[in-house]
Amino acid sequence: MSGKPPNMIRRRMMLMGGVALGVVGLVGYQFWPRPIRASGPIKFDKLLAIPPLERGRMQNGTRVFDLTLKRGSTVFFEGIRTRSMGINADYLAPVLRLRVGEKTRFNVTNDLGEDSTLHWHGFSLPAVADGGPHQVIRPGETWSPEFTITGKAATMWFHSHMFHKTAEQVWAGLAGMAIIDDEESDLLTLPRNYGVDDIPVVLQDRLFTPAGQMPYVPGMRARMQGMIGNFPMVNGTIGAVFPASTTLLRMRLLNGSNASIYNLRFDDGRSFLQVATDGGFLPAPVRRSGLRLAPGERAEIVVDLSDGQVAKLVNRGIDTGGGMMGGGLPDFTFLEIRPKKLQVPSARLPERLTTLPDVDPARAVNTRRFRLEMGMMGSGFAINGQPMRMDVINEVVKVGQPEIWEVTSNGMLPHPFHVHGTQFRIIDRNGQPPMPGEAGLKDTVLVNPGEVVRILVEFTRYTDAKNPYMYHCHILEHEDGGMMGQFTVV
Ligand code: C2O
Ligand code: CU
Ligand code: CU
Repeated sequence: MSGKPPNMIRRRMMLMGGVALGVVGLVGYQFWPRPIRASGPIKFDKLLAIPPLERGRMQNGTRVFDLTLKRGSTVFFEGIRTRSMGINADYLAPVLRLRVGEKTRFNVTNDLGEDSTLHWHGFSLPAVADGGPHQVIRPGETWSPEFTITGKAATMWFHSHMFHKTAEQVWAGLAGMAIIDDEESDLLTLPRNYGVDDIPVVLQDRLFTPAGQMPYVPGMRARMQGMIGNFPMVNGTIGAVFPASTTLLRMRLLNGSNASIYNLRFDDGRSFLQVATDGGFLPAPVRRSGLRLAPGERAEIVVDLSDGQVAKLVNRGIDTGGGMMGGGLPDFTFLEIRPKKLQVPSARLPERLTTLPDVDPARAVNTRRFRLEMGMMGSGFAINGQPMRMDVINEVVKVGQPEIWEVTSNGMLPHPFHVHGTQFRIIDRNGQPPMPGEAGLKDTVLVNPGEVVRILVEFTRYTDAKNPYMYHCHILEHEDGGMMGQFTVV
C-alpha cells in the first residue's frame, strides 16, 4: 500500500487545518494550510510507473501515432479507483519517441465527451499543427496534425490547451512526455536505455479528497496562485521507488504540475550533473546540487549512484519568491532511488554534449515588452493590460528576425513565461547573464517578482498570417484566467 488510506487523509487534513487556523489568525488572510504533506506520511513502497514507449508506425515515410484522449480511472491508492483522464492511458500517456528529420503525424481522437486540444509544447511547428486553443477537437472527432520534427534531441511534452479548460484537463491527466532523438544524441555516451538507466520523471501534485478523488474545484486561493495538491507523484505514482541497476541514472525531469514550482535536490545533498534544458543538451554537463523547476520546464540530469546508497529526490521548500502570496511548498519526497546490490557500471559521461551559438542580443532587430499582470483576488489576469481574447492577435512577428522579448510582472508571484513554436535563449535576468543550468535552449522561463528577464526569440521556418501561436504564463490557472496572448509569424 502506498500513501495514506483515504480515511486517514481526512484526519490529516483536519490536523493541518487546525494548525493553519493559527496562521490565518496571525496574517488575517484566508489561506488553506500548506497543502502538500511532508514525506513522513507517504510510504515509499510502490514501483515507479514507467510509461510504455510508443514509437508509432511508419506509413509511406511518415511516422504515425494514433492517440486517443479518454476518461479512465487510476489506482493512486490501493483499493481506490480515482476518476482521471489520459492519452492512450488512464492517466498521462505513453512516452512518444520521435526523431529529428522525420515527417510525423498524430491522429488525435477525442473520446472525452467534451472539447479538448493537444498541444506540442516545445516543438517548432506550423501554427495550425500547434494544438493550441484554436485547434479544438470536438467530441468524437479526430485531428491529424503533420509536421517534420526539427531542432535537437530533447525532452518535450504535450498536453491539453483548451482555453479555460487547460488547468482542469491537465489536472485530470491529459499530458505526456515526448523524447526526441537525433544523430548527436545517438553518438553520446549518456545513459539511454529507456526505463533502465534513462527514465521519464513527470513531477506533479494533486489534491485528493478523503474519498480519494481529485476533482478540479479551485477555491479562491487556487484561482490566485494555481491548484496545488496534497500528494506529490511521479509518473502518476505516489510513494514511488525506482530500483536502479546502473551506477549512473539519467532522469528526464518534467514539471507537469498546474502551479507548483519545485526546488529539487537529493535528500543527502549529493550533487548531480545537468545535461539538458527544455530544448536539448547543454554544451557541457553542469554540476549542481539543486534545481528549481517551474511548471512546463524540463531538465535532464544524471545522478551517480555508485555509492550504493538510497537517493531520495525531494522538494526542499524554500520560498518560491512569492513571499506570503506564493506561500512556498513544504518539504516532501517525490521518489526513492534504490541502487541494486550488483550495479552495472555506466560509461563515462562525455565532457562535451553539443554546440550552441553564443547569445548575441546585438542581432535583435527590435524589442517587445510583456508585462504579466494579476489582481489580488484571482482575477485581473492579463499581459500588457490585455486579457487573452481568442479573436485578438496581440503581436505580429517577422520570420527570420531575432527579437528581444523583455518580460516583467506586476510583482505578486513568480510566473513561468512560455512561448510556443520555438526555443529561445535567456539573455539576462536583471542584467545578469543566466546561470549555466539555464543557459541552453529554453521555451519556458521563470520570471520572479521584480525581475526583468530578457530572452532572444527567433522564428526561422513557418509563417501563417491567420493562425496564431500563444505566449503565456504556464501556471495553468493564470493561463486559463487570461495571462496569455497570441502572435502570428509572417
Ligand atoms: Cu505547455 Cu501553451 O503550453
Ligand atoms: Cu507550449
Ligand atoms: Cu502566472
